[in-house]
Amino acid sequence: MDFAGKVVIVTGASSGIGAATAQLFASYGALLTIVGRNEARLLKIAEACEKEKGNKPVSVLLDLTTENSCEEVVRKTVETYKKLDILVNCAGKVILTSLFDNDMEAFDELMAINLRVPYKLTQLCLPHLKRSKGNIVNVFGAPMRSRPGFIPFCMIRDALERFTKAGGLELAQEGVRMNAVRPGITRTNFLSNLNIDEENMEQAYKFISQVVPSEVIIEPDEIARMILFVASETCPNMNAANIVVDGAASLS
Ligand SMILES: NC(=O)c1ccc[n+]([C@@H]2O[C@H](COP(=O)([O-])OP(=O)(O)OC[C@H]3O[C@@H](n4cnc5c(N)ncnc54)[C@H](OP(=O)(O)O)[C@@H]3O)[C@@H](O)[C@H]2O)c1
Repeated sequence: MDFAGKVVIVTGASSGIGAATAQLFASYGALLTIVGRNEARLLKIAEACEKEKGNKPVSVLLDLTTENSCEEVVRKTVETYKKLDILVNCAGKVILTSLFDNDMEAFDELMAINLRVPYKLTQLCLPHLKRSKGNIVNVFGAPMRSRPGFIPFCMIRDALERFTKAGGLELAQEGVRMNAVRPGITRTNFLSNLNIDEENMEQAYKFISQVVPSEVIIEPDEIARMILFVASETCPNMNAANIVVDGAASLS
């Protein structure tokens, strides 16, 4: 795979899968815009990316759900690099919430970052991706049976699956591809929103891994490798695909 000179936006790059993806792109010579909210972590990833091939990423520190933030990401990228080749929609979060809750706060927050932001960023990136015949990779969870507390999260997964299929179909006429990489349980900071203490995290992973046939928790690097493969020109006719990397957990 060759990403030398390719301009790539990675959201959620301050942590987990997005961080691993940004660094792997950097190792293949990509020119990056990395997006996150945690300054210390984003800075660390920026340094790691720069060490790979000497290309300093554009680091954009903001909450993507606030007004004009998606615009700022695209504007800074195009101002700096004059083009855009790849958008990786990786920022996301999980919050437990239920139909028995009395407000819509968690629901709205989940919809905003997991669903609205990828849609809006895609809209904003499209004029540039049309010019470069580029592509979009959406990152969201493998299919799962709904469990208590996860209804909005399951709705989002289904919506993003439909978004990827319909998006890939609609954008094909412009020479732009849209695909999804859908991880199973991956060792990141994702679970920190589920009120699990750091010292109990290993125990939590051990418990959760029991739903995976191989009982393995995936490392972010493995998901990053699949994201780069999908974003590369290795299979130029891969479009509207939902690639599941979950150790067959969604089938068990
Ligand atoms: N880990 C898993 O088991 C798993 C499984 C299935 C799917 N996924 C998907 O993989 C993607 C990446 O998650 P991860 O596992 O790498 O989790 P993570 O380590 O928690 O990383 C999440 C990233 O999203 C960013 N983010 C969240 N809300 C944001 C906001 N409002 N504005 C800007 N950035 C925001 C975070 O930024 P800050 O930390 O800087 O705030 C962080 O960089 C998510 O879309 C998730 O749905 C993960």
